Amino acid sequence: MNIRIPRGTQDILPGKVEQWQYIEEKARDLCRRYNYKEIRTPVFEQTELFQRGVGDTTDIVQKEMYTFEDRGGRSLTLRPEGTASVARSYVENKMHGEAQQPTKLFYIGPMFRYERPQSGRMRQFVQFGVEAIGSADPAVDAEVIALAMDYYSELGLKGLKLVINSLGDKESREAHRQALIDHFQPRINEFCSDCQERLEKNPLRILDCKKDADHELMKTAPSILDYLNEESTAYFEKVKFLLDQMGVSYEVDPALVRGLDYYNNTAFEIMIEGKGFGAITTLSGGGRYNGLVEELGGPESPGIGFALSLERLLMALEAQEINLEIKESIDCYLVAMGEKAKDKAAVLLYELRKEGLTADKDYIDRKPKGQFKSADRLKARYTAILGENELEAEKINVKHMETGEQKEIALSDFITYMKENMEESI
Ligand code: HAM
Repeated sequence: MNIRIPRGTQDILPGKVEQWQYIEEKARDLCRRYNYKEIRTPVFEQTELFQRGVGDTTDIVQKEMYTFEDRGGRSLTLRPEGTASVARSYVENKMHGEAQQPTKLFYIGPMFRYERPQSGRMRQFVQFGVEAIGSADPAVDAEVIALAMDYYSELGLKGLKLVINSLGDKESREAHRQALIDHFQPRINEFCSDCQERLEKNPLRILDCKKDADHELMKTAPSILDYLNEESTAYFEKVKFLLDQMGVSYEVDPALVRGLDYYNNTAFEIMIEGKGFGAITTLSGGGRYNGLVEELGGPESPGIGFALSLERLLMALEAQEINLEIKESIDCYLVAMGEKAKDKAAVLLYELRKEGLTADKDYIDRKPKGQFKSADRLKARYTAILGENELEAEKINVKHMETGEQKEIALSDFITYMKENMEESI
């Protein structure tokens, strides 16, 4: 039997996993500064959560969910995104009752969508996302957008493009919805069956149909920006004003509708241009979702957030040849010769590690030459050599690999010596 990894998933092996750890740590550090706290929710949820939260006319819910029945006959779904789960948890754990609002949360974890796998599009991918729930202040919108942009720019990415739009409040959306119906209805039979269904249920979804993207009515469809009421317009203006003041550049794209149903008012995406990506690729997306918490049975609690995939981020870093500062070396490699010296090395290794050093030795009976090669491969900063003679004289030979400098020191001083040397070089 030849068992292989499922399509659209990947193993992240040592050598690559350090990059993941690095960008995850950067995300955590950024969230600390913006005062967002980590939340961890289950990878599966009741299917209904996503049907109601993400919306049952979306591609995600209609075509991309990993849904299964458990042994108790319940319908469960591997989460395709994090916002619905966070909103559910917000309601279930009564976070709305806490004095400190908005509740500012972030998550890093795997999401699952049954999509056609291609470069940057996986069936299991990791999202870093933030959600701020419990405030309708446009300053929170600006904060969330700035956080997303900061993350990329602090990692050194160039060629980023922030695109924003407003999807309006309930009243504006209703007016726009009617305009869309009036626009598409007379010729709806020229559209795909999905779009025909969307016309009454959720005409906004027609605008991001991939099959009918080139239909002439798509280009002339009424723009949401022409249907924003006074309040929604003022809200959007305030978000733009704050971004301007913060020096975050953006473009307004009235065609930006996003693929999930919970959005209203602010919607945004961050794209990247340049080699390695074909034309332009979306790195992340987010927006405001003022009705979601209520939809899930909670009190009125407006929210906003975004999510990005770490896979796409790593692709972008690679395409721009950005090297992350990853420590690859180990502090000390012990080279031992002879049975007794090997036993002693095992104990010394244990003590080095207890003192906080990264250290290793040979376990497959390599000759000294092979052990020195291992030390090189592991980029050891020091190699300590212990043979039978040294052992007898209660000494050990310590070599600084970069300078080649070699010193014989008393075995009893070895651990302290190594520890001090490490501290000096920090
Ligand atoms: P989304 O636009 O569906 O929004 O996904 C956000 C990001 O996840 C995308 O921009 C992309 O980087 C990444 N992504 C999506 N699908 C895949 C895939 N198949 N493979 C690799 N990466 C992918 C959301 O998920 C919303 N929950 C965002 C949000 C948070 N809105 C408010 N709060």
